[in-house]
Amino acid sequence: MHATAHEIKSVEDAARLAVTDNLFAPRFYTTDFAAMDRINIEPVRAEWDAMMAEYEGDNNHDHFQRDAGFADEARELFTKLPHELQQEFLDFLVSSLTSEFSGCVLYNEIKRNISNPDIKKLMEYMARDESRHAGFINSSLKDYGLGIDLGNLKRSKHYTYFKPKYIFYATYLSEKIGYARYIRIFRQFEQHPDKRFHPIFRWFQRWCNDEFRHGESFALIMRAHPHLLRGPNVLWIRFFLLAVYATMYVRDHTRPALKQAMGLEPTEYDFEVFRICNEITKQVFPVLLDIDHPAFHANLQRLFACSQKAEAGKQAGGLFGGLRRALWSVAGAAVFARMYFIPVKSNALPETTRLQPAW
Ligand SMILES: [Fe+2]
Ligand SMILES: [Fe+2]
Repeated sequence: MHATAHEIKSVEDAARLAVTDNLFAPRFYTTDFAAMDRINIEPVRAEWDAMMAEYEGDNNHDHFQRDAGFADEARELFTKLPHELQQEFLDFLVSSLTSEFSGCVLYNEIKRNISNPDIKKLMEYMARDESRHAGFINSSLKDYGLGIDLGNLKRSKHYTYFKPKYIFYATYLSEKIGYARYIRIFRQFEQHPDKRFHPIFRWFQRWCNDEFRHGESFALIMRAHPHLLRGPNVLWIRFFLLAVYATMYVRDHTRPALKQAMGLEPTEYDFEVFRICNEITKQVFPVLLDIDHPAFHANLQRLFACSQKAEAGKQAGGLFGGLRRALWSVAGAAVFARMYFIPVKSNALPETTRLQPAW
């Protein structure tokens, strides 16, 4: 493994990883509930109602159940994996569980704290989906004796406060990029079933359709409030696009064995995911990142190098290690700032917002 988090050998290790905060780990959020309560979706009512009917239809209600051989298959395949891959896969399960559960907690908290019927109902449906997703991943951790106590995670995780508009930008993107990541992996195993090293991947297609729909919900909320998509807010959109893309790149390159075991090359995989995500975000964002700009990839590589050096400094510890960590973190921030000023492409918003998960 590259310089990365620590081995997961016990339930305590898994729980510690889930609760740890660093720049590239999934976070928990809280927000301004009174402002959430004031959201008005009337401008997109027709599309909204059609979407709510889909949530109500709940076509995945029977999807997140494991078939008889699941646990045996999971255990048997796992023992055959090289140690490094086992560790990266466990890290993948824990961080995926943390981000699924993060959505579950946020949507539940919003639901509990508002009375606006449109938003309340939406949050209830999304929390329902995320709770299934989190539970499904946790079953897989339990197969290895590494289940995470979600009640405890909810209590001990640090919460980041985000204004509603930041929640919309960030959550929209994480739902859509989550879709793009899962569907790309699902398609890969569809073509190469011999490479599928865990049964959970068979669930990814219908699973990521939930994420796609969650993203649709935030797209409609933003389209109902066009000021969120204009003026100085465009600078925030650029910021969140870059933060989400760069985080994914650094994380995927920190655990390359996982993508390689899937028969995917991490950089190619990431750029395919960026491409899908760029295509989807045309439904709502007035700008797209220019992922084909030569400085884009070059700076992602630099950013990854900085994060590796900062992590090495952290692991070395002591005053000198701490200094190295601080220095490389600052260098990483400078690279990020340089990337921020790569010109973006402008995008004219379509008449209607809704898209189908067609990738
Ligand atoms: Fe989810
Ligand atoms: Fe989701």
